Amino acid sequence: LNNGLALTPPMGWMSWQRFRCIIDCDSYPDECISEKLFKTAADVIASEGYKDVGYEYVIIDDCWLEFQRDNITKELVPDRKRFPNGIKALADYVHSKGLKFGIYENYGTKTCEGYPGMIDHLELDAQTFAKWDVDYIKVDGCYADYRDYDTGYPEFGRLLNKTGRPMVYSCSWPVYQEIKGLTPNYEAMKEHCNLWRNWKDIQDSYESLRNITEYFAVNQSRIQPHAGPGHWNDADMLLIGNYGLSIDQSKTQMAIWAVIASPLIMSNDLKNIRPEFKEILLNKEVIAVNQDELGIQGLRKRFDDKIETWIRPIKPIVNGEHSYAIAWSSKRIDGAPFRVSAKLESLELNNANGYHVTDLFDKNRFVVDVLPQQNITVRVNPSGVVFYKFTPK
Ligand code: DGJ
Repeated sequence: LNNGLALTPPMGWMSWQRFRCIIDCDSYPDECISEKLFKTAADVIASEGYKDVGYEYVIIDDCWLEFQRDNITKELVPDRKRFPNGIKALADYVHSKGLKFGIYENYGTKTCEGYPGMIDHLELDAQTFAKWDVDYIKVDGCYADYRDYDTGYPEFGRLLNKTGRPMVYSCSWPVYQEIKGLTPNYEAMKEHCNLWRNWKDIQDSYESLRNITEYFAVNQSRIQPHAGPGHWNDADMLLIGNYGLSIDQSKTQMAIWAVIASPLIMSNDLKNIRPEFKEILLNKEVIAVNQDELGIQGLRKRFDDKIETWIRPIKPIVNGEHSYAIAWSSKRIDGAPFRVSAKLESLELNNANGYHVTDLFDKNRFVVDVLPQQNITVRVNPSGVVFYKFTPK
């Protein structure tokens, strides 16, 4: 969507993956979907280094609404107990921290968790979000006919535009069509949305991470050409810092999400995150790959049942030759680190003067200088990743 927004993949934090639809604030005051949760997220993002490396949007997912719209105005009403000061006040708070504010709604009659959807009130809701100073809107697709999305999502986009307030538009338009076996019209997504969820919801496990990664690999020729500044394929939230991923698996998610230019939207308990996971989330070198200005989505170039090689062309371009980020991701779970070698030219890295290679997970530590005819050899931990940058010499 050409609205001047999301020129690099959006970065931020969203409630769903970790906090779901916890609404019992009496039992779980620090976890329930409430003003407090989002204020705390904004506080931590601003004060603990996340903002400094680019995390920007604090986004409410499902379960923020009352079950009824306002009787008279028909406006959406946030849960009175959990958002006692309303959404505008929360947006103001997030803005006061130098961050941006996002919210969730659903195109159909109800949200996936059964709260009021937008279908009969599209214009009013667009105006309400603008009035509340929303910067980012995630529009889900439950309780609707997925064939209507080809007209419904563009229509809501036009209504957002009409408000005059710039809002990042995150669509769930393709995922519901992909799951039904249809072939979504990605050229239309590119025109009407800033990002779109292609595939199933991420769950807190390595298996789920692999399933999404496999979707991105198998369908890359169909989805990759449509990604670029202002319009991104969205692989779903970062799991890092929760229960399901080891440190190696967390690095795998961060590296692959960087290569495929997916939005980096964390969903974790920022107050209670262990330092080794925080370090992965704050890795500037890896984030720089994700945020590379060229905006080219990387591809899985090679794979067998043990190792996948993912490659993304990035800046700087030296004498007409791209730099590259290469992730070797191991699917092995059988113990020792696994050694793998490849000639650079077999990976289509052909710069005659060779490449200067650095380790992105180790502060760009110099690894080796290598020519296209030479081998690069890495050792990859089980379910882990090695992530290097290749800069032309
Ligand atoms: C389905 C979406 O894909 C999830 O990311 C989340 O927004 C839930 N719906 C909320 O109900």
